[in-house]
Amino acid sequence: MSGTVVIGSQFGDEGKGKITDFLAEAADIVVRYQGGNNAGHTIVINEKTFKLNNLPSGVIQGKKVMIAAGVVLDPRNLEKEINAFEQEIDMIIDPRTHIIMPWHCVLDSAMEEASKNSIGTTKRGIGPCYADKALRKGIRFEDLINENRLKEKINEIFPEKNRALELVYSTPMNMTAEEIFNQYNELGKKFSKYLGDVSFEISNALDDGEKVLFEGAQGTFLDNDFGTYPFVTSSHPISGGVATGAGISINRIEKIIGVIKAYTTRVGEGPFPTELQGNMAELIRKQGNEYGTTTGRPRRVGLLDLPMMRTSVRFNGFTEWALTKLDVLRKIPLSIATSYKIGNKKIQFFPYSSDSLEKAEIEYKDFKPFDFEPENIVSYDDFPKEVKNYLEFIEKETKVPIKIISFGPDRKDTVLK
Ligand code: GDP
Ligand code: IMO
Ligand code: MG
Repeated sequence: MSGTVVIGSQFGDEGKGKITDFLAEAADIVVRYQGGNNAGHTIVINEKTFKLNNLPSGVIQGKKVMIAAGVVLDPRNLEKEINAFEQEIDMIIDPRTHIIMPWHCVLDSAMEEASKNSIGTTKRGIGPCYADKALRKGIRFEDLINENRLKEKINEIFPEKNRALELVYSTPMNMTAEEIFNQYNELGKKFSKYLGDVSFEISNALDDGEKVLFEGAQGTFLDNDFGTYPFVTSSHPISGGVATGAGISINRIEKIIGVIKAYTTRVGEGPFPTELQGNMAELIRKQGNEYGTTTGRPRRVGLLDLPMMRTSVRFNGFTEWALTKLDVLRKIPLSIATSYKIGNKKIQFFPYSSDSLEKAEIEYKDFKPFDFEPENIVSYDDFPKEVKNYLEFIEKETKVPIKIISFGPDRKDTVLK
């Protein structure tokens, strides 16, 4: 048994891509098991930057990669990604993986534009594709690569989708069923070589003692059940999602690594208790280059939130933290949220209701600003005392050890603790 999962512990963009790439060196297989091309994972090696949406970050290390059943896959986006990638890719895609169709993207945008309380989705068709999967109206990878079935499915589903889009949102499709079939059929032919039963392959690989790394997308508080609903995504980024997403049993997972940014960011709408405004927000956004990988939107920034992190530990069962972006906080006067107060009650966890969140007063602990030169850091011992105090406080308060520390975007800017 040697399955390791990398999970975003906050609102996404914690640096999962960087940490997955770092860990992939010791892995045999890297798997994506939920989400789709709403994800944007950035990896930097010797100043060369890779931005991945669908491909598991293990491709950079040349590892075998897999796209599991729990993913929603836009083959148009995957094609671009494969074409842009110069190396050969050793990949399989599960036949059960659901396919993002053009009508999903049109509906995602139309719903966002029509809503008074828009979520700020990535408009990649993620929600509508997962909704169709639950409604049993989906098209799967096994259909995409079967010409007759693909035609049958598109002809059955398209008229209904087009009519609903026209009647409800006055935005009919700008493609015909035939055009969609032609485009997707061609992609299906190209991708049929990738067909493979991911659940079966992972299970066999684990039986043979291979190391399998599961790369989460999004973050814990974007989970469809346990995030800040309705400002969430439509899949399950928490660690439980790996079993349903990849088709493996939960007891095959040994390590659950929570990726935690040294502060907090969020893209899109929704509650953000420790959000900063003004100069301080601008400073962190600038130093941390906090602009969305997928959509280029400026990320909202805030302080580290321990009630949120304790709750994240409860949902995910982290066995260790990989802490990222420590370098960004250099020379900044720092605070960490330690608890919330609602009325007279002090609470240590993230409230489940948005009403409570709105009423919550936040209690903070201040820290002395720290500084270090990333070039001089070779091991944990090289960090100054103030950095160690900050990190050890997080460990004590979350009861999870920090094992990996990232202090720059490049693969080399990483030490083990
Ligand atoms: P993901 O979606 O969780 O993989 O994260 P993203 O790639 O969307 O966002 C993280 C951003 O921070 C990327 O631009 C990374 O290159 C960058 N990054 C990752 N770790 C560090 C770090 O320790 N320091 C700095 N300065 N940047 C980092
Ligand atoms: P990675 O894997 C940050 C956010 C969107 C929006 C909400 C719903 O790079 O961490 P969706 O398109 O999924 O229906 O949008 O979720 N969101 C992300 N935020 N990182 C991501 O992925 C995200 N994927 C979706 O901004 O608020
Ligand atoms: Mg990202």
